[in-house]
Amino acid sequence: MRIDIITVLPELLEGFVNNSILQRAQKKQLVEIHIHNLRDYTKDKHRRVDDYPFGGFAGMVMQCQPIDDCITALKAQRHYDEIIFTTPDGAQFDQPMANELSLLQNIIILCGHYKGIDYRIREHLITREVSIGDYVLTGGEIAAAAMADAIVRLVPGVLSDEQSALSDSFQDNLLAAPVYTRPADYKGWRVPDVLLSGHEAKIKEWELQQSLERTRKLRPDLLEAK
Ligand code: ADE
Repeated sequence: MRIDIITVLPELLEGFVNNSILQRAQKKQLVEIHIHNLRDYTKDKHRRVDDYPFGGFAGMVMQCQPIDDCITALKAQRHYDEIIFTTPDGAQFDQPMANELSLLQNIIILCGHYKGIDYRIREHLITREVSIGDYVLTGGEIAAAAMADAIVRLVPGVLSDEQSALSDSFQDNLLAAPVYTRPADYKGWRVPDVLLSGHEAKIKEWELQQSLERTRKLRPDLLEAK
């Protein structure tokens, strides 16, 4: 899988994509992540990528030309399955969307900034608009990072134990069961006996009960969605 991220703040994303799970996925050659500085595509001699909005509204708007040129240059090299724009008015990013996007070959994520981007880009080039939650970030970089992380960890082979992605919270609309490690007794705080029993069927049953109980208590909306 290949992810191209277009941003005016490449430094913000470089550190993120070159660490942890995203770095591991790239080293294993399962995923390629390329970050593009939008300013490299502007024809403006001061490297500006934004301008005042028509209509006298407040704030600045990202211009068509640099975004169009960057996306056109990428599209000339390969087919993209999705060209995603990060925006608070997009569709809510969730686990099913992460699953769906993890199956694609090539995606572009365009990070929004300022008051927004010229709407013509959204009409003519963007195939999907995505929000990571009902709050407004200064820019789309954190949204792009969150999406890349959630997508890449689902690519087969990225996690050492493939099962662990399947048993994540939300994967089947249930929150994950609690997990414990050694020692079995820490300051009198004991691990549930069933987990020490070695009885696989009973452990599975306990895990499901815990998942259901935690979901009922913490996220009943997920059970209604089932
Ligand atoms: N840009 C600003 N806020 C955002 C959000 N909540 N999700 C995605 N992109 C954004």
